[in-house]
Amino acid sequence: MKKVNKILEIIKVLNQTIGALHFHNKSNVYLHEPDIRKEDWKFVKECLSRNFVSSVGNYVTEFEDMLKKFTKAKYVIATVNGTSAIHLALVVMGANENDEVILPSLNFVAAANAVRYCNAIPHFVEVEEETLGIDPVKLEEYLKKIVIKKNNISFNKYTKKRIRFMMPLHMFGHPAKILELKKIAKNYNLKIIEDAAESLGSTYKNKHLGTFGDIGVLSFNGNKIITTGGGGALLTNSLKIAKKLKYLSTTAKKPHRWKYEYSDIGYNYRMPGINASLGCAQMKRIKSYVNIKRKLFKKYKDGFKNIKDITMFQEPKYAKSNYWLQTIILDNKISHLKEKILEKANNMGFSMRPIWKPLHKLEKFKLCPKMEMKTTENLEKRILNLPSSVYLLKNIKNYAK
Ligand SMILES: Cc1ncc(COP(=O)(O)O)c(C=O)c1O
Repeated sequence: MKKVNKILEIIKVLNQTIGALHFHNKSNVYLHEPDIRKEDWKFVKECLSRNFVSSVGNYVTEFEDMLKKFTKAKYVIATVNGTSAIHLALVVMGANENDEVILPSLNFVAAANAVRYCNAIPHFVEVEEETLGIDPVKLEEYLKKIVIKKNNISFNKYTKKRIRFMMPLHMFGHPAKILELKKIAKNYNLKIIEDAAESLGSTYKNKHLGTFGDIGVLSFNGNKIITTGGGGALLTNSLKIAKKLKYLSTTAKKPHRWKYEYSDIGYNYRMPGINASLGCAQMKRIKSYVNIKRKLFKKYKDGFKNIKDITMFQEPKYAKSNYWLQTIILDNKISHLKEKILEKANNMGFSMRPIWKPLHKLEKFKLCPKMEMKTTENLEKRILNLPSSVYLLKNIKNYAK
């Protein structure tokens, strides 16, 4: 009886917070839907009428300039998606079969796949409950045990490979402890590629996520805070890196008006104009989206405040999150209810989702080096995402501002 009550309590909060399904004229409230408006159609039609649908034309540059202005990254290169951006970041930094890349196991699969595209080895590390990002304390202890340094290069004592990169993830838009992680990276001479795929609009001590590392990555997939259909971007403050990223993302073609000359193995990873045109329209609303999502968080938090054993995942004091995906963390006492909660909510038309299966548990990554994963495996049982689309707050005043 107690178990059923808890599940019904959660459904009640969903109903009260975002409204019953009929309120939205829907049979399903999905986890995160794009918000497409009239202005977006105008931008895309304009792109079509100019005929510059691929990466030539002004929309890609315009979109990059908007991202530059908003994130304050010196250089931005738009790509076909976030995964290709991570891949290219690794390629440009020279990742190869002799390298290991430190990344959290509680992660979307894209980053680890990209590491394998370069024949490098993912090396999985623990997260902390507070930020759901890499645990800096545990990481430092771990590296002390497994690293041997030779000429300031860090080698894994056990695999003999070079540990060369760290790829922190900012979970659901909330920042990991990036300054602590940067310090560790410096001590061990690791390059940082920041996976800020979910974090457009989030800052840590007033600095935009994705601008702390050597290279940062964003995603504009259909489920992200703004979308270009599919799309990604690379952020960097280094002109040298930016030039290389742009060059390799455009098939490594030497600039010339008509000659086809290529000096490297390049990639066709540049974002097409048609996607960028949608991005330009969406970027005009990024600030209002962040406000809406922060309001949605407050509404959910208020709804869950009297429900025992459930905590809303929230930003730390020193940061401002875009609250891309609203998240609850179940207390250990009720973690056994996870599947039942998911079943009931989804049957009722509310798309709740569990967090990804930790990567060290996937067959293809089972043999990769890793830390002990107590917190990761415990959190896997307790994290649930709630419907988080912008339209859910249509009834809130000033919505469109
Ligand atoms: C944390 C994280 N990294 C990388 C990606 C990959 O981005 P994309 O889907 O644009 O390839 C995503 C999202 O999809 C993500 O959530």
